Amino acid sequence: MTSAPSASGRKRTAILVSGRGSNMTALLSAAADPAFPAEIVAVIANVPDAPALDKARAAGIEAVAVNHRGQGGRQAFEEKLDAELRARNVELICLAGFMRILTPWFVERWHDRLLNIHPALLPAFKGLDTHARALAEGCRLHGATVHFVRAEMDAGPIIAQGAVAVLDDDTPATLGARVLEIEHRIYPQALALVAAGAFEIDGMRVHLTSGADAAQPPLIAPKG
Ligand code: GRF
Repeated sequence: MTSAPSASGRKRTAILVSGRGSNMTALLSAAADPAFPAEIVAVIANVPDAPALDKARAAGIEAVAVNHRGQGGRQAFEEKLDAELRARNVELICLAGFMRILTPWFVERWHDRLLNIHPALLPAFKGLDTHARALAEGCRLHGATVHFVRAEMDAGPIIAQGAVAVLDDDTPATLGARVLEIEHRIYPQALALVAAGAFEIDGMRVHLTSGADAAQPPLIAPKG
């Protein structure tokens, strides 16, 4: 299957998911506006029964599974994933709760065109269980980060961050719920910036170019 590049000038974007897909839903909602600079052309899950697939279909988006099992290994899985993306002329990829580590081969093929959201203020708390770890460390602020993906896990130039205050009676669940609200705000903002080309990457720093300042996400978001 092949698709022509977007005639609208909107960046053809795929979302990769593994689970419930609440960030995916936030991206789909933002991109439902024809003025949004990215168009979501496909949702791909590595888990065939990921709830996100049905949600995407209900929103009228093509949703397919590329099962990471039974492909003959990590390289074969990524080659298949890459083929699905290229067949749809995808220009940008958003990882949204995609629970597979991608190899340097894949990451380099999509250099500066592959975004991820992580539920912590990177570079703190890479990896899993970020909310419990932020509480255990006594953090007063916690949040989420959208970044370009590099070969090292949860590392790469930061596009957007949003923070919440940690409350005395927070549990990982209550804190995580407020961080998730922040995620749903900053991921569409970050994708819009990237799709509009309103940035330059300088090492680990992402500079917003002229005209993009108004779209810069808040460093500290209002308490959730
Ligand atoms: C989010 O917390 C995201 O930051 C992390 O995985 C979770 C996915 O949640 N990478 P959802 O599937 O988007 O609801």
